Amino acid sequence: MSLKLRIAHLSDLHFWKKSHNPFQFCCKRWLGNLNSWLVRRNELDTGRLEALPEFFSQLGVNLVLIAGDLTTTGRMVEFRMARELIQQIKERGIEVALVPGNHDHYTHLAYWQGRIYRYFPEETSDALKRRRVAPRQLRPGLWLVAMDTALATSWISSEGSFSEAIERELERTLLQIPSTDSVILLNHFPLFCLDHRFKKLRRDSELRLLLQRFPQVKLYLHGHTHRHSIADLRPDRLPIVVDSGCVSLCKWGRWNLIDLTESSCTISPHAWKEGLWSGVETVEYSWR
Ligand SMILES: [Fe+2]
Ligand SMILES: [Fe+2]
Repeated sequence: MSLKLRIAHLSDLHFWKKSHNPFQFCCKRWLGNLNSWLVRRNELDTGRLEALPEFFSQLGVNLVLIAGDLTTTGRMVEFRMARELIQQIKERGIEVALVPGNHDHYTHLAYWQGRIYRYFPEETSDALKRRRVAPRQLRPGLWLVAMDTALATSWISSEGSFSEAIERELERTLLQIPSTDSVILLNHFPLFCLDHRFKKLRRDSELRLLLQRFPQVKLYLHGHTHRHSIADLRPDRLPIVVDSGCVSLCKWGRWNLIDLTESSCTISPHAWKEGLWSGVETVEYSWR
């Protein structure tokens, strides 16, 4: 791998705007709005995201990877708020790639319209929209594979699905990447579910089995749980699994600064402290 790359990995921005639209009662959006009004507006602070574009620029970030849940109820106004932030990042010459989360496909209408793909055609891709798996070469010897496993779900569910079609597509994609190259896999849902079954990724065991056959997948970046964690699962023939946590969470908000070189991967979680983003610790892994 010939590279030096600085990545910011974040997730679960959850932009939200209060809605008085009576049509929200025709779908589950009223539930998301009620939850946001009663609970999340005290737990989440998207105002702190405004400092990120300039901070990324100062840090020399090359690429921002967003692991989904940019919005709360998949409304146009929420997508516009997310697009404004991403535009400010891109104006500083930083590339952005993203995958949808379950909140971005919150209603069946938002899902079937492919609303997130309409708002972010450059940050996603036509391949991701059509086949749910999209590879992209970042550097010689290094690939990003974006995967969309999010669904429009029922009122009580926030699960995703690693469907058989996505499994076939991911396998086909990984077979086309030289085995000596390295792959970062970006997905909204975690590789292991420690939560309620209605929050998990369906067929996650099939995903783990597939990844064990492709050791060139070195990093699995995700969000969804709102809990930051890093797990080096290479002894189990799985990737280093990195949960960015929820960047907007008032108390435990995190995102990761990831430095890749030919021989190492360094991960520095960042938190909001006294009105500034700052690194809280650094973990270094040998890349080989
Ligand atoms: Fe979320
Ligand atoms: Fe989620």
